[in-house]
Amino acid sequence: MRLLLATRNAHKLREIREILDLPEVELIGTDEWPGLPEVEEDGLTFVENAVKKAVTLARAAGLWALADDSGLEAQALGGEPGVYSARYAGEPVSYPANNAKLLDRLAGVTDRRARFVCVIALASPDGASRTVTGLCGGRISLAPRGANGFGYDPVFVPDGLDRTFAEMDAESKNRLSHRGAALRQAREEWRELLRGVAAGRVTSAA
Ligand code: IMP
Repeated sequence: MRLLLATRNAHKLREIREILDLPEVELIGTDEWPGLPEVEEDGLTFVENAVKKAVTLARAAGLWALADDSGLEAQALGGEPGVYSARYAGEPVSYPANNAKLLDRLAGVTDRRARFVCVIALASPDGASRTVTGLCGGRISLAPRGANGFGYDPVFVPDGLDRTFAEMDAESKNRLSHRGAALRQAREEWRELLRGVAAGRVTSAA
């Protein structure tokens, strides 16, 4: 079977292929399927956005599709930046500007708890879908530290450690990260389902 992945990012494709580890499923990126619509991420929750992307692509291509949405939630800010993580400091998207805004909003705030959230949605061509959620708890540092990773990595210190995500290598981060957790859960929950699709026994995610 072919599973369409809502990403043009070759690195994400490889990571998902490795973690899902299903030889009977051929993962294809949206680049390899011309004519797909652009999906606007205008939902109020990560679940809404991931489901919208997966369902829109599954219906348009007539294939099963996988999509993710992720971001950071700071406890003292009521879950901000949340679904606005990518564009927190406005356009054009700038990671340093986003981090500066977050540190500014938390200036003088003692409760620095935060968590990364990653939702992955799986949709069938009939528009039915399922989701899994991965979380990674931690806190926001007082200043950016480290040069690895992307996004909020320089200001996020995972629970139980003193280093930011940007001070870790990719493998250490993946073991702890929300995306790693969501992908491992997706593999556990959906392996049999996807095998059933490949064998022609399952036709809907409902
Ligand atoms: P998206 O899921 O690719 O739309 O990611 C949304 C935004 O959340 C990114 O642009 C980052 O700002 C932030 N984000 C998501 N995952 C991570 C992560 O692992 N590290 C740092 N920032 C992240």
